[in-house]
Amino acid sequence: MQRLAGRSAFITGSGAGIGRGIARALAREGASVAIVDVDETRARQTAAEIDAAGAGRALPIACDVADRGAVFDAMQRFVSHTGRLDVLVNNAAYFHYAPLVDMPEAIVQKMIAVGLLGALWSTQAATPPLIAAGGGSIINLSSVAVSFSIRNAAVYTSIKGALDALTRQQAVELAAHGIRVNAIAPGPVETPGAGSVIDAQGWQARRARTPLQRLASVDEVGAAVAYLVSDDAASISGVTLKIDGGITIVGP
Ligand SMILES: NC(=O)c1ccc[n+]([C@@H]2O[C@H](COP(=O)([O-])OP(=O)(O)OC[C@H]3O[C@@H](n4cnc5c(N)ncnc54)[C@H](O)[C@@H]3O)[C@@H](O)[C@H]2O)c1
Repeated sequence: MQRLAGRSAFITGSGAGIGRGIARALAREGASVAIVDVDETRARQTAAEIDAAGAGRALPIACDVADRGAVFDAMQRFVSHTGRLDVLVNNAAYFHYAPLVDMPEAIVQKMIAVGLLGALWSTQAATPPLIAAGGGSIINLSSVAVSFSIRNAAVYTSIKGALDALTRQQAVELAAHGIRVNAIAPGPVETPGAGSVIDAQGWQARRARTPLQRLASVDEVGAAVAYLVSDDAASISGVTLKIDGGITIVGP
């Protein structure tokens, strides 16, 4: 049985990588999905792929989540298309790794604007239609990077730590409306974005350090999100679910 039949999900940064895996997973469970991406070509390709697979309906929406007005416009467009909103996934991020002292201001501003402000604007835009639907679910993409000190990742991990705090905060604030808020913390996942900051040696080192000796795929992250936003997880709110093959519990 499809667990998300009749539901609709707005997924940011879903033209590629983990967001694309999440969109495919939710569509397979019957949801209508908004493929929201700053890269319009990617959004169109992913939506076409989902439609061609006959796995639910996908609407591509070109939108920069750092632009609050554009996020509200995109949300309105999707909700008028589907008639309702049940799920928001805050997934979009911009990657750059460097020692904090060397980080150019423009890059720091962009990372925060996409990764943190984008999640705040999307949550603001999603809350009224989620309440109107009688409740729903929000997922924030955190990272296991929050549990470590990762070389050159001070800005990235600061943003992810903030998303964990946002998750706890909103899980309590929105509970009265039947809205559950959870975070997913993947370990290293091979995607275009992560590939821009991790080289082949880095991937190999991460695989070797992982107790399961394998890295999660984007589809495995998608499967976890599909569970968390479904009624099977009706009592789960405020958690950060790690999908990391055990990498964060390895002792010294
Ligand atoms: N890949 C990993 O190893 C990993 C691990 C832990 C957490 N995460 C998190 O998962 C999420 C997805 O990561 P990924 O590796 O798939 O990234 P990715 O860069 O491969 O894909 C991100 C997508 O977001 C889009 N995007 C970028 N800026 C945007 C903006 N301003 N507005 C709308 N869309 C925008 C990109 O065009 C791209 O399609 C991020 O939040 C990331 O921090 C990734």
